[in-house]
Amino acid sequence: MTTTDGRISLPLLPPDHPLGRSSITCEYRCGNACSHEAPNTSDNAYFGDVVRSIVSRRGMLKAGAVLAVAGAGVAGLAGSAAAHPDHGGHGGRPPRGPKGLDFTAVAPNREDRIVTPEGYHNSVVIRWGDPVLPGAPAFDFDNQTAAAQAKQFGFNNDFCGLVPFGHDRWLMVSNHEYTTESAMFKGFSQANPTEEQVKIGWAAHGLSVVVVERDRRSGKLLPKVDRRYNRRITVTSEFEVDGPAAGSAFLRTTADPSGRKVFGTLNNCAGGVTPWGTILSGEENFNQYFANAGSVTDPVAKTRLTRYGLAGAASTRKWENFDPRFDVAKEPNEVNRFGWIVEVDPLEPGSKPVKHTALGRFKHEGATIQIARNGKVVAYLGDDERFDYVYKYVSKERYRPGDSPSARAHNKKLLSDGTLYVAQFTGDSPATEFDGTGKLPTDGEFDGTGKWIALASGNKSFVDGFTAEEVYVFTRLAADKVGATKMDRPEDVQPNPVNGRVYAALTNNTDRGKPGKEGPTEINPRNGNKHGHVLEWEESRGDHTALTFSWKLLLVCGDPATADTYFGGYDKTQVSPISCPDNVAFDRHGNLWISTDGNALGSNDGLFVVPVSGRYRGYLKQFLTVPLGAETCGPVIEDDFILVSVQHPGELDGASADNPLTHWPDGGTAQPRPAVAAIWKSGCRIGE
Ligand code: FEO
Ligand code: CA
Ligand code: CA
Repeated sequence: MTTTDGRISLPLLPPDHPLGRSSITCEYRCGNACSHEAPNTSDNAYFGDVVRSIVSRRGMLKAGAVLAVAGAGVAGLAGSAAAHPDHGGHGGRPPRGPKGLDFTAVAPNREDRIVTPEGYHNSVVIRWGDPVLPGAPAFDFDNQTAAAQAKQFGFNNDFCGLVPFGHDRWLMVSNHEYTTESAMFKGFSQANPTEEQVKIGWAAHGLSVVVVERDRRSGKLLPKVDRRYNRRITVTSEFEVDGPAAGSAFLRTTADPSGRKVFGTLNNCAGGVTPWGTILSGEENFNQYFANAGSVTDPVAKTRLTRYGLAGAASTRKWENFDPRFDVAKEPNEVNRFGWIVEVDPLEPGSKPVKHTALGRFKHEGATIQIARNGKVVAYLGDDERFDYVYKYVSKERYRPGDSPSARAHNKKLLSDGTLYVAQFTGDSPATEFDGTGKLPTDGEFDGTGKWIALASGNKSFVDGFTAEEVYVFTRLAADKVGATKMDRPEDVQPNPVNGRVYAALTNNTDRGKPGKEGPTEINPRNGNKHGHVLEWEESRGDHTALTFSWKLLLVCGDPATADTYFGGYDKTQVSPISCPDNVAFDRHGNLWISTDGNALGSNDGLFVVPVSGRYRGYLKQFLTVPLGAETCGPVIEDDFILVSVQHPGELDGASADNPLTHWPDGGTAQPRPAVAAIWKSGCRIGE
């Protein structure tokens, strides 16, 4: 429906769920995390409030010292639209549009297909059940087996990463975040899954490595069943644990008294491609797979479990019925072996994947890498939970350029030893200016400064009362102790290769401002934050190993027609509505691409692009939408094609394998299948 000024009236339909996600997605993806109490009940105050209370007690002199750090950084961020136009507008030249955004924005919609701007093609690269390994049988929905699934593309692909592998040829790595058994099996009984269904679920989790090639004639990206490089990693694949907590007593189990060998990876959400050609993948909502944490009575163990959202009886998928390691009452440490960043080397198909304890244990969204000026490697990390934190890791050793075996072996150890930090953000406007409505403060910006607080480095802990092992294994509790800033669900955190600033998607937090919960702050300014926001920061002196930074909110998402949204100061009548930013990526111009998870405006999820500097900073345009019930994730932005993961298509309330509510991608009466899709325009670069 359009209004008289031509705008689409939002929301399109009342969303199925307060956050726009169906209840099925909530249950299977994150174990209904949002309907439970947010596990951060620490009394950790927002540092802006702490600073202001210091100011009021000790006078402005002290505050001046704190905020002086900000000055330099904020100046660095102040590349305003008017001061630094991208191009045009000077010397009488006519202004031109922003680079890479030459397409007509896709309008919010509820179509059951991928909708792109005119002139763009799209095709499925690979779907759930398509062959990955030699000998994989053709997908047969009604006759699935665990043995077949272990050779086929897994379910609900999230992150997608490409490692170049020759001309028009890549190793494509996909995370299979979770399974939705009610959509996978007709007549499924959640109370009583069969052993084969459970084992299909194990095989449908993990990662896939698939060789993909571009067909020059059609432009399509096609998967190959490559005997040497294709790979499936599942819940039963062996991982090596490395870093300072490897071998820790917290990680030892009956099956692995060494604490160094783990079978499987769980709920792999987002990730990143490293400069040395490996893939990092975040183990996110791992807690939901473990049963009977509620029966643990030891207070220390209980506190640790509760902080990670483990408090229940039977698990959703009942895996504990077929493997006692998923029963916390029987195998208390198994759960500590999940919640890590894992590294997979697709270029060495025989290599064992690794769980990196040096990057801490939490609900890792993903990890992205920046090589700092001094050669050290910095990993940016988000803990995707309401009121949880943003982290970074700085390696002890330096990156070694080149792809020789010795350089790669060296670089693959960079995430094994370093320093883990958590972020503390401070606003620069008075607390009284934040009433939870999202109204801009009088200085015109949600902005301020911040610092990185060291938690541990190698075997040394910086947190009182915590050993280094405790910091790494129970990172959330250590971060609570040092006063980290409670954020509105930090998802992807990624450095921009063009301007060096770092961008974080903060998806939403409907609990902000609720009784007993932290209220609005400059960095999380809306109560009941349904639509999320996008944060930008610049490390001091542009040095990614710096311990201080300055920050701004780039976007406060939602319907641009409402007063509580902000688009980098850009004219809001010109931008696309956006809700629930999740994954981020960059194109060659440094434009920020954002995919969404759970559109609380009632539209299908989508992919958006926004310039981050120059006169068009904040000019957000929607590039595509995915089919009904699906989430857009894992965007890969290449010069001449885009890949998106179309995760959980048709996952709508009331949908099941017995009652599919979409038939994407195959149409007719086919069951919906999660897939990777490619989008391109013949003979053109994206957005040009
Ligand atoms: Fe799996 Fe944070 O989304
Ligand atoms: Ca401000
Ligand atoms: Ca995500």
